[in-house]
Amino acid sequence: MNKDKLIETVARLVSPPKGILAIDESLSTCNKRFEKLGVPTTEEKRREYRELLITAPEMEKYISGYILFDETIRQSAKDGKSFTSILQAKGIDIGIKVDQGLIDFSSHPGEKITQGLEGLSSRLKEYKNMGATFAKWRVVYSIGENTPSGDCMKENAVILVKYALICQELDIVPIIEPEVLIDGDHTIEKCYEITAGNFDVLFSELRDSNVFISGIVLKTSMVLSGKDAEDKSSSAEKVAQMTLRCLKEHVPEHIGGIVFLSGGQGDEEAAMNLNTMHQMGSLPWPLSFSYGRAIQNPAFQSWAKSPADISGAQALLLAAAKNNSQASIGQYKK
Ligand code: G3H
Repeated sequence: MNKDKLIETVARLVSPPKGILAIDESLSTCNKRFEKLGVPTTEEKRREYRELLITAPEMEKYISGYILFDETIRQSAKDGKSFTSILQAKGIDIGIKVDQGLIDFSSHPGEKITQGLEGLSSRLKEYKNMGATFAKWRVVYSIGENTPSGDCMKENAVILVKYALICQELDIVPIIEPEVLIDGDHTIEKCYEITAGNFDVLFSELRDSNVFISGIVLKTSMVLSGKDAEDKSSSAEKVAQMTLRCLKEHVPEHIGGIVFLSGGQGDEEAAMNLNTMHQMGSLPWPLSFSYGRAIQNPAFQSWAKSPADISGAQALLLAAAKNNSQASIGQYKK
């Protein structure tokens, strides 16, 4: 493990005013989004859409890294240039989603653990040869009456440790993504309790297993009330305060960086919440975004409607990237 190299990669990923763009939707997630807007669910259509995202001019001003999916990292633009070479020419780091999705957690109805450790080292070596400098692994918790359980958090943490150690051994920065889903009617306080409890389990496993904490990036959900909660009145100030308190009290100060997923928040809401956090004073760690939908949404909708208007969709993508870049330094204005 080359710790200096890991630290350098982390520094590039979270250097202000940049954040990460996630375009790593799995085949089924991507196809579901395509179906909703009547886009054919073919490999060529997915390639065409990802080409739009990867070739959008000036994205390197606001975006430090793109997270790709296995299919995408192997694809090329219409003119034959590989997607990876296009990103490298712009000085954008290449990331790769390496988990292989969710499976049921045995004897724990409704709970999921994330799979993908089998063959991970050789897959990562291949991705590294293709230019990948960082990876991503997502685990998911949904808040119910008795979930998530401590057992589920522990099991996922053990798996995340194995993933992180394999990445770091190959000098690839692991993004560790525990997502507490926005689905449900839970209060913001309940979300705080689950998010904080999970951080405690996760970081205790990471520390005990000698994962190099300064060489990882935490990708987390914000502390939010459920999307069907009765009290939906959480202001950006409340979300920012509770999220920062949770991070300050439960995440080690020497972590490489922290980025947020958007997780079904509105585009404006995701930018505003991040912006508000940065207006609350200096922070112990770099804090930015790694949004998928909150940056892609306007461009995706425009392209689905008018596929020939590539530059129109790219302008929307750039505007969303710029908004979040400004939010990542507390300078976003509606
Ligand atoms: O794993 C989730 C993605 O990397 C982030 O997606 O911002 O649309 O939640 P999202």
